Amino acid sequence: MKERALLELENTNKLEELEQLRIKFLGKKGELTQVLRGMGSLSSEERPIVGQVANEVRVLIENGIEKVKEKLKEESKNIKLNAEILDISMPGTQIEKGHRHPLIGVMEELENIFMSMGFSIVQGPEVETVYNNFDALNSPENHPSRDPSDTFYITDDILLRTHTSPVQIRTMKENKPPLRIVSAGRTFRFDDVDDTHSPMFHQLEGLVVDKNITMANLKHTIDMFIRELFGSQMKTRFRPHYFPFTEPSAEVDVSCLKCMGKGCEACNGTGWSMELLGCGMVHPNVLRNCGIDPEIYSGFAFGLGVDRIAMVKYGINNIRLLFENDMRFLNQF
Ligand code: PHE
Repeated sequence: MKERALLELENTNKLEELEQLRIKFLGKKGELTQVLRGMGSLSSEERPIVGQVANEVRVLIENGIEKVKEKLKEESKNIKLNAEILDISMPGTQIEKGHRHPLIGVMEELENIFMSMGFSIVQGPEVETVYNNFDALNSPENHPSRDPSDTFYITDDILLRTHTSPVQIRTMKENKPPLRIVSAGRTFRFDDVDDTHSPMFHQLEGLVVDKNITMANLKHTIDMFIRELFGSQMKTRFRPHYFPFTEPSAEVDVSCLKCMGKGCEACNGTGWSMELLGCGMVHPNVLRNCGIDPEIYSGFAFGLGVDRIAMVKYGINNIRLLFENDMRFLNQF
């Protein structure tokens, strides 16, 4: 049995075979186990001799199995290592680098201009309450912008903000005047996609509240900002407009960047880039809704389309380009 076991051991070259072999000799019903079990029927002289031999054979087989096991493990490790050989002199795979998005660049540029003018930057959530987005902003119950065909409602009281103006409300509720903040971020409207519209776009909101703030402060701030952004030769034009949250309200056009106001095909000969910005004096109701006394304080607010500004700045005529993340487009900036 010893010889047979050792011979079989030598011919074993798989770990599973080795286990079979262990069971065959040393398992519960193994050959050697049978011998040891049968010892009861031997005479008292035979018993120690057979016992000794059987034990020697057991140790021999056990050690043999251990050795072969080590050898097989070593071999399989070497096979694995050989398969994993790594040539560190091979050139690596090129990973395409990310690129700063032109829109984020423009947003930071705008924020930097306002910071240099003494504004602080605040953030507001994209998911807002209907109260902050409409009610507190003095938006009438029947205002068309409240319609579910214009606004993404999540529940009756929660929506995706349709503008950055709710950040005005949050700021005024949490802080006392004087206030001087801007806040930029994503906004959402139920618009079909075309060259100038996208259901997700970006606005930057500004708010100043203090004693004795007038329309002159508003106009000066906007003019300074536009000249800082586009150059000192830029002109602005304030057209009367209506927003529920400001009174009086205005829309601002700036000189067409292509012809600098002379009139070209890009501006339909008008010389103006239209509707870059909405603004006005904060409505007394809005101040009141936020616990600020309109008899003591007044303020102005403005909101501008960041995507619009980016498009005017870079001469992009299709808003889709800003959101498709095509590297051939993004790499140009
Ligand atoms: N929230 C307005 C809009 O989305 C813009 C605006 C902001 C107008 C602040 C006036 C004051 O059109």
